[in-house]
Amino acid sequence: MSTHQSNQSFKLEHLFSLKNRALPSLTQWVVALVTGGGSGIGLMATQSLAVNGATVYITGRTKEKLDRVASLYSKDIPGKIIPITADITSKESIQKLVDEISAKESKLHILINNAGISSPTQNTDQEDPKALQEELFKNQGTVQEWEEVMRTNVTQLFFTTTAFLPLLNKGTEDEYGWSSTVVNISSISGLVKTAQHHFAYNASKAAAIHLTKMLAHEIVSSQLKIRVNNIAPGVFPSEMTTEGSDEKQKSTIPKEKFEGKVPAGRPGKNEDMASAVLFTVSNQYLNGQTIVVDGGYLLKAGTL
Ligand SMILES: NC(=O)c1ccc[n+]([C@@H]2O[C@H](COP(=O)([O-])OP(=O)(O)OC[C@H]3O[C@@H](n4cnc5c(N)ncnc54)[C@H](OP(=O)(O)O)[C@@H]3O)[C@@H](O)[C@H]2O)c1
Repeated sequence: MSTHQSNQSFKLEHLFSLKNRALPSLTQWVVALVTGGGSGIGLMATQSLAVNGATVYITGRTKEKLDRVASLYSKDIPGKIIPITADITSKESIQKLVDEISAKESKLHILINNAGISSPTQNTDQEDPKALQEELFKNQGTVQEWEEVMRTNVTQLFFTTTAFLPLLNKGTEDEYGWSSTVVNISSISGLVKTAQHHFAYNASKAAAIHLTKMLAHEIVSSQLKIRVNNIAPGVFPSEMTTEGSDEKQKSTIPKEKFEGKVPAGRPGKNEDMASAVLFTVSNQYLNGQTIVVDGGYLLKAGTL
């Protein structure tokens, strides 16, 4: 390889390209699915892929949110955003999603398992054992709430990933120099020792991180070239963290609310998530890993 060719391979458009790497002149772009793509982090992931040329299918339970995202963010970009309503906690709904996407696409290159929910909060600052028991056992939380969080944040990662394996494998086979990839959106809540006042959510995110490792390992053991990683975000504006979004499906956390809370001194931005997503999907040497994007939250004393 000449030094000129070597230098070319260091260009941003080569390193992070979402085009067919064998025949970029054909302008054949990758195909992606983002669950929960209608708001928050899922919308950030969707924009980062679609703006850079990918065809991105987005799912969620609320049709209006998905339709709004597709009509607002599809304009004047090389990629496409295509909404499909689905509830990823149901195997039947996941199968319908596979069938719908298979009817339109012969392959899938990127699956971002982002959909998730939070869990009810508890006050863990009780020093009296009876009061702590009262708060954690008697008053707060039901087995059903734990099951719902686990079903949405953990179980679905397993079923959505495994349901799409054949289509993901086709993505790997068809694109030279590209292995299809699954990116689970976990959380720093799955890495910290504190319950952050929500035991079930944190337990579910720790499970999501371990499930990522197991899936990556088992897929490699089956000789399939599909990479599985997870992104563990700190706090980003979303419907979950602000309990709402505006007419553009975007949420806001005022910077002042974050003074002194993380070394970055602010919540995460669209761009912070977008660059993490582009890195994770395009780096062909990354497999089974957790990418933490948290403004330095985990550097705070006593978190790990
Ligand atoms: N924002 C943060 O600070 C932060 C930090 C760490 C990790 N995370 C993780 O990031 C992911 C995205 O959350 P977010 O913060 O961006 O919150 P969000 O705005 O509430 O997004 C979650 C999305 O998931 C969808 N969803 C929920 N249950 C679903 C289901 N059963 N089937 C299909 N779609 C479903 C929701 O749409 P519908 O309700 O319309 O279905 C929603 O669009 C979650 O896994 C969350 O745990 C967020």
